[in-house]
Amino acid sequence: MNLFDVYPLFNITPVRASGSYLWDEHGIQYLDLYGGHAVISVGHEHPYYVKQLTNQLQKIAFYSNSVQIPMQKVLAQKLGEQSGYQDYQLFLCNSGAEANENAFKLASFHTGRKKIISFEKSFHGRTSAAVAATDDPSIVAPINETPNIIFCKWNDASMLQQIFEANEIAAVIIEGIQGVGGVNIPEITFLQKIKTLCDANGALMIADEIQSGYGRSGKFFAHQYADIRPDIITVAKGMGNGFPVAGVLIHPNIKPKHGMLGTTFGGNYLACAAAIAVLDIIKHENLVTNANEVGEYLIHQLHGIPGIKEIRGLGLMIGIELQVPCAAIRNELLNEHKIFTGSSSNKNTLRILPALNISKTEADIFITAFKSIMYKQFKTSLAQ
Ligand SMILES: Cc1ncc(COP(=O)(O)O)c(C=O)c1O
Repeated sequence: MNLFDVYPLFNITPVRASGSYLWDEHGIQYLDLYGGHAVISVGHEHPYYVKQLTNQLQKIAFYSNSVQIPMQKVLAQKLGEQSGYQDYQLFLCNSGAEANENAFKLASFHTGRKKIISFEKSFHGRTSAAVAATDDPSIVAPINETPNIIFCKWNDASMLQQIFEANEIAAVIIEGIQGVGGVNIPEITFLQKIKTLCDANGALMIADEIQSGYGRSGKFFAHQYADIRPDIITVAKGMGNGFPVAGVLIHPNIKPKHGMLGTTFGGNYLACAAAIAVLDIIKHENLVTNANEVGEYLIHQLHGIPGIKEIRGLGLMIGIELQVPCAAIRNELLNEHKIFTGSSSNKNTLRILPALNISKTEADIFITAFKSIMYKQFKTSLAQ
């Protein structure tokens, strides 16, 4: 049987990893500034993470959500404490798209309404409603098309208001920081306006923190820069550092009912062990602070490099918009300098999404390589 060929792949086969590094089958070392789509939060193969998962595997790996699994409560308790959402409820599932799908269902059950507002350049996943709320018609199949999603312009408060005036809205979904769209940071006043309009119109605000959450932005959640509390927050990616686990954080006013949501795999023992280990490491190693410090350092070092149009970012979620398409530069970083970086739907924007425990020394390796490429390409002397 052949694999269904949907991914354009680099011709690299990682066989081993540690911290911010990967090694291929020839022993070549790569610096990982992408974390496999922003998934690696506490570094590859962190010893504590490996130990916790291994211990759990030797005890019990899986049973379904029909028995008591106290680790789920431990996870909810720690996530509540570290994120500042102790009073919220947690629903555990397996992927970002599934978390958003459940967030939409919850908003619709709760309000009795159908319409969701999403934003231009958004990415919310590839399942039915999540992909409909994603601003990329090329990945929306006819079966996913729905009149229930309304797209609003980014940071456009008056358009948002008009949509509310003309429709019965169940929810507004917004990424804490847009990732796939090219690292676009919402204006603080815009996030606050969304919350105000949701509250005034009986709708729910959903913050998709799947990419921007878990400390990546230099706060636990990126929306916390705006000092708001969304009604629903979705998390995945960095939550399990590579183990598939996702969650929906739900405001206490939204009441559960047996059978309302469900999943076979969600919240299994191994997923909980991975997610608890990640939270323990983030706390004990002060990784939110490190994300802030190394992120600021990286952004500072990037300023003044020729060929850059704009640098957007908070913490370790950084978009470098070049004056030219970034594909060739990204390939050179990978092939010549052995550094993984990410692309985005904005062809000129390089995405930097390293592990939250990356050091300044490792950041410098990237800066040196990136400078050498950019100075060469833009024919400016390094001495200038
Ligand atoms: C902001 C955001 N939401 C949702 C998703 C979908 O997550 P998953 O691929 O785990 O379904 C992604 C994935 O890139 C994302 O970046």
